[in-house]
Amino acid sequence: MDRKEAANRITHLRTVIDRHNYLYFVENVPEIGDGQYDKLMSELRDIENTFPDLITTQSPTQRVGAAPLIGFSEISHEIPMLSLSNAFSDDDLTAWYHRLYSMLDDTNFEMACELKYDGLAVSLRYENGLFIQGATRGNGMTGEDITLNLKTINSIPLQLQGEFPQTLEVRGEVYFPKSEFDKFNARRDQEGLHTYANPRNTAAGSLRQLDSNVTAGRPLDVFIYSLAQMDSDLSLGTQLKTLNYLRSLGFKINPHNILAKDTQEVIKYHTSWIQNLASLDYDCDGIVVKVNRLDYQQHLGTIGREPRWATAYKFPAVQAQTRLLDIRLNVGRTGSINPYAVLDPVEVGGVIIKQATLHNADYIESKDLKIGDWVVVERAGEVIPQIVRSDKDKRTGAETYFAMPAICPSCGTILVNRKDEAATYCTNSTCPAQLERLVEHFAGKGAMDIEGMGGKVGISLIQNGLIKDVADIYFLQRERLEQLDRMGKKSVDNLLIAIDESKKQPPERLLVSLGIPHIGSEISSLLLNQFASIDNLVACNQETLLNTPSVGPKISESITEYFGNPDNLKILDKLRSAGLNMVSETVIPSEGIPLLSDLRFVVTGRLENYSRTEIQDLIKKYGGKVSSSVSKSTDYLLAGQDGGSKLAEAAKLEVQIISEHDFETMVAGN
Ligand code: IVH
Repeated sequence: MDRKEAANRITHLRTVIDRHNYLYFVENVPEIGDGQYDKLMSELRDIENTFPDLITTQSPTQRVGAAPLIGFSEISHEIPMLSLSNAFSDDDLTAWYHRLYSMLDDTNFEMACELKYDGLAVSLRYENGLFIQGATRGNGMTGEDITLNLKTINSIPLQLQGEFPQTLEVRGEVYFPKSEFDKFNARRDQEGLHTYANPRNTAAGSLRQLDSNVTAGRPLDVFIYSLAQMDSDLSLGTQLKTLNYLRSLGFKINPHNILAKDTQEVIKYHTSWIQNLASLDYDCDGIVVKVNRLDYQQHLGTIGREPRWATAYKFPAVQAQTRLLDIRLNVGRTGSINPYAVLDPVEVGGVIIKQATLHNADYIESKDLKIGDWVVVERAGEVIPQIVRSDKDKRTGAETYFAMPAICPSCGTILVNRKDEAATYCTNSTCPAQLERLVEHFAGKGAMDIEGMGGKVGISLIQNGLIKDVADIYFLQRERLEQLDRMGKKSVDNLLIAIDESKKQPPERLLVSLGIPHIGSEISSLLLNQFASIDNLVACNQETLLNTPSVGPKISESITEYFGNPDNLKILDKLRSAGLNMVSETVIPSEGIPLLSDLRFVVTGRLENYSRTEIQDLIKKYGGKVSSSVSKSTDYLLAGQDGGSKLAEAAKLEVQIISEHDFETMVAGN
């Protein structure tokens, strides 16, 4: 066979294999047996082995076998991956419907009802019909590149069918089918390996494997539930038509989606699925109700990170009975005194529950809980376990009431109750327990990421008086550290290096680290994009903040309250004097627009003067964006030595290829 014949045969085989793969894994109606399928695959493999240059990353032979990664790269979601508001009762659902119909001026709009699969959200990108990139949800704005792992999922098409647009991004849920999960655990058990608790967490762990060959051993599956982006004039009109269109491209769409004309029909769907859940081979924790018309969705828009046009109507949670052994207290990082229940360990929905939050004294009283009670505990999806009620019939008289102490269990300060709040607070801003929580948070992975500072070390530094607020972390003296128990010279060195390194963290990380209530990574990035520096944020009033997209009253009040406190401003000053980044690194040239504003770069090959991270940081510093793979929206491919397949990809998509030197010229003088 010559090269040309081989190329033709390969194209033919790939089309045939993709089709049978689709019939088997998506439609569940195979037309050929496993033996015949394997024969086609091995013929394709043989020809590809003879002509390795004809192998493409989307060939069905390339679903497995890629080399392990060292880490995942970050991917920013052009269209954020949103969450859903919740409804827990028919009344909640009806209230949601009524709110929307007054906004839409239509009292009779239709809804798409779908199941709410309890797996992991993923985003899949296609260029010219080929699967080029897949990502996790992450914080909704940035996720991780898990393309290689997703390619191992047979129901994810590597090549689209039918009339596909040039670029397409879809969202869906990856899950571990229950039957496969049971087989997988049984096999592990036989091999003397530990077994896994539930399909969801195992699916999550499988998607985060650096070696995709491990993922390939876990038969994951997917349902696609939305279209994020496509460049096409096709007007799809409604959610259900969109899903039908995606089905025509080869995506796996759940067969149980329906159109509901009113809330009664939604409730019927919800009720019938509560009864039929066991018939499904995947876990669902509710249904998702979506306004069907896309123009209505557009009009309704999103609030915070939730679309107004959709809501999750949850199923009642899984419950179990156990004993409430004790009620203990935690001091939160904001000073709130949080009672929690110590439970006789019990399994609920595949997870062992030992503790449950009790929120505050009012909560304990409203549930009439006594220490020693039999209680019903429940866990709904990812929600923290809760105590639903106590079983008063089982009381023996030996049960005892819990009383909130008058003083902080950590520092002895008299506790206060704030107006309109059920929580009890310790207002001592130097309370060691509060500080312990805060330091733990400050040094945590998603915050300043100071290795060696969390846990025992942080606590010991606080207890020995070396840290009185988080800013003190940056003024620790080597001599004092070396005097502490279990702190050898080496650990001190490492700790000081980690602290110094953390000074380079961008201001959005610093803002998260301060532990301001309601300010997580997503909101923090958004605020620094908007205000460019922490000082600008300090200067903001409620009104300015409220005019910021995605910022509601809870967030704006929390920020103004935090920066309104002189103690906090002192800490901020100290952090500034330690040399921490308070200003977004994006360079704003005199015209006020960052130099590489929103230009998208991909870097490939070995560079002469920079490491990969250095060049990426530099691009970001000048306002550019870095992606890990070339797509139509890439502006420049910055290529060094041995650029590999990205060069061909860039040439094909007519993306401009530049050298390191070209790049330096671009940013010269800045
Ligand atoms: S739509 C903007 N549809 O639920 C709409 N989500 O809490 C956002 N989920 O992260 C998603 N089944 O992973 C949608 N049929 C379905 C879903 C679904 C499960 C998950 C999704 C998302 C989470 C939202």
